Amino acid sequence: MEVSMTTPQVFTLDDLVRELHRVFEDDDVNVEEVHDLMSGYKSNPADWKKFAKFDRYKYTRNLIDAGNGKFNLMLVCWGPSHTSTIHDHADSHCFMKHMKGSLQELRYEMPDDQQMQECSEMKETARTLLKPNGVYYINNSIGLHQVENTSHSDEAVSLHLYCPPFSECCVFDQRTSHKMKCPVTFWTKYGKKVDLKKSKAEAQ
Ligand code: SIN
Repeated sequence: MEVSMTTPQVFTLDDLVRELHRVFEDDDVNVEEVHDLMSGYKSNPADWKKFAKFDRYKYTRNLIDAGNGKFNLMLVCWGPSHTSTIHDHADSHCFMKHMKGSLQELRYEMPDDQQMQECSEMKETARTLLKPNGVYYINNSIGLHQVENTSHSDEAVSLHLYCPPFSECCVFDQRTSHKMKCPVTFWTKYGKKVDLKKSKAEAQ
């Protein structure tokens, strides 16, 4: 009997979370399998609106599932014109899926020590307007990225999976290549607002 190896059908966000847990039972990350699963899910706001919490001033990270410690799946909510820094992804894999709105990804070369010492401008390597439901993959060996909501009037939403999860990354200054460490925090977890002061106190 022939065994079909096609990607399982993922109709809802719950299906996607369940399939991701299955894939991550294995200790090795199969980048292609995760990519295919995330592509297979077609964004349906009815599935994810309970996680979509926006802030007026800055884009927000909203944790959907902590993947048994193996991955973090989150909805990133971008208000009009909100833009991320240029950042790395620690030593993790980053998958980003377009869910709603008009999002652009800018990629940059990872600056070397000499560029940092000489305060050189960072080199842009690609500029991509995300396609509806498109999935985009990056890690530090590919480079750095910056994401922006190109609309000045409408919100945008993306779905991100980081594995392994990380709580700190580096952000870069485009004009000088200088970098600094920055905490990666959540605005909400499982639909509920995170009390940042309380989480900081608990971490100490
Ligand atoms: C962020 O987590 O700061 C933005 C999402 C990303 O671009 O990876």
